[in-house]
Amino acid sequence: MSATTAKDRVVIFDTTLRDGEQSPGISLDVGEKLEIAEQLARLGVDYLEAGFPIASQGDFDAVHAIASSVSGPVICGLSRTAHKDVDRCWEAIQPAERRRIHVFIATSPTHMEHKLRMSPEQVRAEAISAVTRAREYTDDVEFSPEDASRSDFDFMCDVLQAAVDSGAGTLNIPDTVGFAVPGEWAQRIRSIRERVTGDYVISTHCHNDLGLAVANSLAAVEAGARQVECTINGIGERAGNAAMEEIVMAIRTREEQYPDVEVGIEISELARSSRMVSRLTGYPVQFNKAVVGRNAFAHESGIHQHGVLNERTTYEIMDPQAVGAGDSQIVLGKHSGRAAFKDTLAKMGIEIQGDALNSAFTRFKELADRKVQLTDADLEALVAEEIGGTVEHDFELVSLGVQGGNVNTPSAELVMTVSGEEVAVTCTGDGMVDASCTAIKQATGIDGRLTDYNVLSVTGGVDALADVTLSFESSDGVKVSGRGLSTDVVEASARAFVSALNKIARVRATGEDPNAVDRPGHIG
Ligand code: KIV
Ligand code: ZN
Repeated sequence: MSATTAKDRVVIFDTTLRDGEQSPGISLDVGEKLEIAEQLARLGVDYLEAGFPIASQGDFDAVHAIASSVSGPVICGLSRTAHKDVDRCWEAIQPAERRRIHVFIATSPTHMEHKLRMSPEQVRAEAISAVTRAREYTDDVEFSPEDASRSDFDFMCDVLQAAVDSGAGTLNIPDTVGFAVPGEWAQRIRSIRERVTGDYVISTHCHNDLGLAVANSLAAVEAGARQVECTINGIGERAGNAAMEEIVMAIRTREEQYPDVEVGIEISELARSSRMVSRLTGYPVQFNKAVVGRNAFAHESGIHQHGVLNERTTYEIMDPQAVGAGDSQIVLGKHSGRAAFKDTLAKMGIEIQGDALNSAFTRFKELADRKVQLTDADLEALVAEEIGGTVEHDFELVSLGVQGGNVNTPSAELVMTVSGEEVAVTCTGDGMVDASCTAIKQATGIDGRLTDYNVLSVTGGVDALADVTLSFESSDGVKVSGRGLSTDVVEASARAFVSALNKIARVRATGEDPNAVDRPGHIG
């Protein structure tokens, strides 16, 4: 019989609405803060730092509203050491079922001298006075020595010990300016635990100035920290705070590396939390952001796509569904292979095989080379064009060079194959499209007039595909239509025209009803 050892809970202390909201340019109103707080509760955070009540009436109102209506997490407010700050903080969080006051004062030489203008002894006295005051309201008091990573270790421990002796149950060690590196940070946490005696939980609060906030937080956990302060999407002052989704997923995914601890987060709510915070703060999530970025589970290269289509874990260490990010994504681009192309079409309900698949794939590669990413709408249009084009053609466009503008006469240099023979023609016209169509008429020997011409942009953006449909009536009265697709509107027009003239040639050769072959919008 194997004995199971209980794991320590790493308390997740969310400070999205306090430190996160201190990001430049973010200003959430009470309603928005409440919406985020409700989501944080669904996410299962243990502590929710709702704001800094003394900072403004708006901050007070938001903390009070959250304390009055959000259940689940312990609601925390931040406070400086002045008693009026502590009193105001308590007033704001008072309606909550469970409450914490978080008191802080800086202990680094530079902060004490240039910001607080206090001596170390004054700072120590302030810490004692504030913690004592907070304890008059609640048993749950957290103390932070701001700028801990640049504080004199002995002095900081002296203040921490005084805070514990005055009743603080959590000692939060902030790397306020993101100065620490993981090995050093772990050592500092370990040394504090050895030095400061009493019954307290040690916490870590890391900023990301060197991009190390998550690594430092995890190093602190390995060194014995049992609370991590973090924010959704890593938002916060300057380069931000440690990103909650990354810390939680590192502990969950690499369980064997963190055998003594567990986190109580409902990870299926991570993606939704990220989207909500991004939407309400106006802070975009970087595409390649770990866990919640839009490319976190997207694969573009053919080799990766093939692997993931066979077995997701070949290139994914987390299940996107588990974090609420939906399915793995196969992004079609110039690196994609045939397997991914076919699979994407199948998911869109388009089944093509054999020659149709080959020619559609060839066209896709050509387009993907010019357009970074192809949307479903692009693919649909491309396949529609190719399906119309899987029949043997008399005419094929080989190359087209055009010159336009209002200085020289628009002209087109065209090379195409006519019944297998290459023909080169140069023509001028009223515009580049007109010059191209005149050249095509000359090369094919088919005369007539355009009766309708439409250009649609398949998707938005400057690199959108142009989808040209046109109607043509030959001089012997055959009416057909054609469709062409390209990132270039003149090329799309030429392709549409060539496809129309191919139908004329077919009608002339077979006597076939032009309407039977004339289905430009049909996908198959
Ligand atoms: O970064 C910091 O030092 C803080 C404290 C208030 C904990 O946010
Ligand atoms: Zn901070």
